[in-house]
Amino acid sequence: MMNKNITIIVGAKWGDEGKGKIAAIEAQNAKLVIRATGGSNAGHTVIYKEQKLPLHLVPGGIAYPQTTCIIGPGVVLDLEVLFEEIAFLKKCGIPDIESRLKISGRTHVTLPYHKDLDGLYESLKNKPVGTTKRGIGPTYADKSNRIGIRMYDLLLPEDELIHKIEEATKVHNQVFKANNMENCVVDCQKLGKQYHEYGETLKNYITDIEPLIFNSIKNNEKIVVEGAQAFRLDLDHGDYPMVTSSHPVVSGTLCGAALPAQALNVVIGVDKAYNSRVGNGPFPTELPASIDENGNVIKDTTPLEGDIIRDLGHEYGTTTGRPRRCGWMDCPILCSAKYTSGIDYLCLNHLDTLGEIGKKLGYVKVCTSYMYKGEKIHHYPDDIMVTGEIPEPVYETLEGGWTIDSSCKKYEDLPELAKKFVEIVEKASGIPVKYIGTGPASDDLIVREDI
Ligand code: GDP
Ligand code: IMO
Ligand code: MG
Repeated sequence: MMNKNITIIVGAKWGDEGKGKIAAIEAQNAKLVIRATGGSNAGHTVIYKEQKLPLHLVPGGIAYPQTTCIIGPGVVLDLEVLFEEIAFLKKCGIPDIESRLKISGRTHVTLPYHKDLDGLYESLKNKPVGTTKRGIGPTYADKSNRIGIRMYDLLLPEDELIHKIEEATKVHNQVFKANNMENCVVDCQKLGKQYHEYGETLKNYITDIEPLIFNSIKNNEKIVVEGAQAFRLDLDHGDYPMVTSSHPVVSGTLCGAALPAQALNVVIGVDKAYNSRVGNGPFPTELPASIDENGNVIKDTTPLEGDIIRDLGHEYGTTTGRPRRCGWMDCPILCSAKYTSGIDYLCLNHLDTLGEIGKKLGYVKVCTSYMYKGEKIHHYPDDIMVTGEIPEPVYETLEGGWTIDSSCKKYEDLPELAKKFVEIVEKASGIPVKYIGTGPASDDLIVREDI
């Protein structure tokens, strides 16, 4: 029998649920911490020694010196973002990054032309996805098309790398020319030379990650996987085409991390006590907000419910700074996420913020089911991108709000109304809420040991 000591953290909705925070907490007694999917579209916030670490690529577990952190083969890696991040982490006093950060040689590289293509495809679409413009889709497309550039390629002789980039950009360059983007046409010699130098800089990080993983599993060491993005953004299981280009559900996360499913111990699904989404696509519990069609906040208007949640929750993208769309907690999505990702426990963050929202509005709501095609349902319907019919939330309303201060360390310490909210979520989703976020810092977390 294989040892089972893998903890996977996944997003249960549309991202930004606070995965970085709980992943870092779980990393405190872990040996390996792995990022498995996505790229610099992710923005994960970890508070380390009262310092905010907004990370896009390096797992937050790097803050704990006993960990080895891995960027897995399922990630798409923007090296310029990575260099900035490594420099920032060093400045923050995080030790031994060179020896503790490992990058799979099979990880694909996001090159500048992927970002140019991302912008172009979005601008040509009738209904843009609202991507982060970080080149994610085009990098995964090249990977599927077998013209991707991998970390191992950066270690090849320079002329071989240049040749690979020439092959990869034949069609892309025609696309740039056809769209009057001559300035984006790739100078393969120059780019090849630059990325060959990047390979030289990163050669000690690039490795075969499997032996590290096999050893850890053999020795029953704890492995934490810091999932990125979330269930409803999954390429197969989300609101296609308003999704990302990877598989953030647990099965995709295992694949992107090169992990065997038999070694999986626990899946923690992360959500917020209210919900948010950046980019376009359905959001059944979304509340009205003063945001124009480009996502800009319209000032000088009376704040609407969505504005109040966004401001109290500081809901602005870590990666793009875009204001996030906000709405009430949606339990039917959790019911679907529970099965697709096999979620064992829920981490419910921002219970403190929801209390403040309740105090400001005089009520909080939680969607416990939907009305869809004339029927009451408890899951997220599969065909809404085809019918165009957004399910209508059925809400339970709690009157008032609550205050959670730093003295709240146990479930029993929570205000009665906050506990009532948690119980409604547990009942409607069928997932036990084992972790409750009461603030951004790593000790702002209630762990219910009895669950
Ligand atoms: P991720 O992408 O899922 O890792 O989440 P982000 O880091 O993008 O967004 C979550 C935000 O909420 C960050 O600014 C966190 O510091 C903050 N946060 C996480 N948990 C809590 C919580 O329980 N309460 C409060 N007030 N903030 C939290
Ligand atoms: P974390 O890991 C929130 C969204 C984008 C867009 C769609 C596709 O921080 O939770 P992409 O650039 O991936 O092609 O954009 O996916 N998106 C995220 N939204 N949090 C994220 O990551 C996201 N990563 C991608 O806003 O709607
Ligand atoms: Mg985020």
